[in-house]
Amino acid sequence: MSALRLTERVGILPFLFPQQQNDSPHQVMGLSFPNRIGLAAGLDKEGNTIDALGRLGFGFIEIGTITPRPQAGNEQPRLFRLIPQQSIINRMGFNNGGIHVGVKNVEASKTYRGIIGFNIGKNKDTPNENAAEDYLICLREAYRVADYIAVNLSSPNTPGLRDLQNADATKRLLETLKAEQALLATKHGKYVPIAFKVAPDLADDHIDALAQVFLDGGLDGLIATNTTLSRAGVEANPLHTQAGGLSGPPVKERSLHVLRGFASHLGGKIPIIGVGGISSVEDAQEKLNAGASLVQIYTSFVYQGPPLVKKLVNSLGWSSS
Ligand SMILES: Cc1cc2nc3c(=O)[nH]c(=O)nc-3n(C[C@H](O)[C@H](O)[C@H](O)COP(=O)(O)O)c2cc1C
Repeated sequence: MSALRLTERVGILPFLFPQQQNDSPHQVMGLSFPNRIGLAAGLDKEGNTIDALGRLGFGFIEIGTITPRPQAGNEQPRLFRLIPQQSIINRMGFNNGGIHVGVKNVEASKTYRGIIGFNIGKNKDTPNENAAEDYLICLREAYRVADYIAVNLSSPNTPGLRDLQNADATKRLLETLKAEQALLATKHGKYVPIAFKVAPDLADDHIDALAQVFLDGGLDGLIATNTTLSRAGVEANPLHTQAGGLSGPPVKERSLHVLRGFASHLGGKIPIIGVGGISSVEDAQEKLNAGASLVQIYTSFVYQGPPLVKKLVNSLGWSSS
């Protein structure tokens, strides 16, 4: 990330990655996405590398997860590369500079013309009873500069966070955020869609219950999925005992299953961003075929670097099939 920021500052990136225009952007959640390939949350935690990442071709960049107050995250080591499985286990714990820093960084970005999502969360020391207040603080602060807001209910590294995915808790949170969104839309004269990001570790009946909550509550978008607590597929790697969320190819099938479950219940009424285990054009196509309107990558970008972004964008970022 430092190298990317440096190459952006000295002006090399435009020569290495010339920008291409798209005459027919994708309309999702009422927004115009230049292409369907995005960077998932967690890499640009505070939005200080947006312009450089944008040069690589991402049609949208989700910054965060950002919390109201700055926090250090978990002790290091907290990220483990399981190289033979091309996967990662992480327990970063929302290390970030706080919502004000994110807003400032987005305002300071100069060249990026794609979509910027703000992924928001609660501070570790905020009890779940007060979680809605943390999300509200972030929503209010980010609203003016964000293109969309992603509400992270699914990180395994903030104790208790996934309890907010219980249908009743999710319903209450969605109602609170939708009411605030209506006020903010009037105040700022623009509608900023809200997406919820869910875990891959949801049982089928849980998926159905949540889908109904999302339909009833008027959710604008769904991001499926975050990292998994499962260790299926990596048991042979001694690092598999590390605590945290697993990402990359081992989460692909589980993530697809959850995406398909939501897609069949939502029936196209709420657009879905598919994420989890995409390492190739075929993987991304599979998500689109399963009902995703857009896709995001993280782990494969760590392993394969910028050429993968270019390949994905050129192969299926622009077409709508
Ligand atoms: C090191 C690391 C940190 C992450 N941090 C966040 C985060 O802060 N917020 C979030 O919503 N997802 C976070 N994620 C999850 C990713 O956004 C993505 O949902 C998940 O890794 C599955 O996609 P992938 O298989 O392409 O990596 C993180 C993932 C990794 C590997």
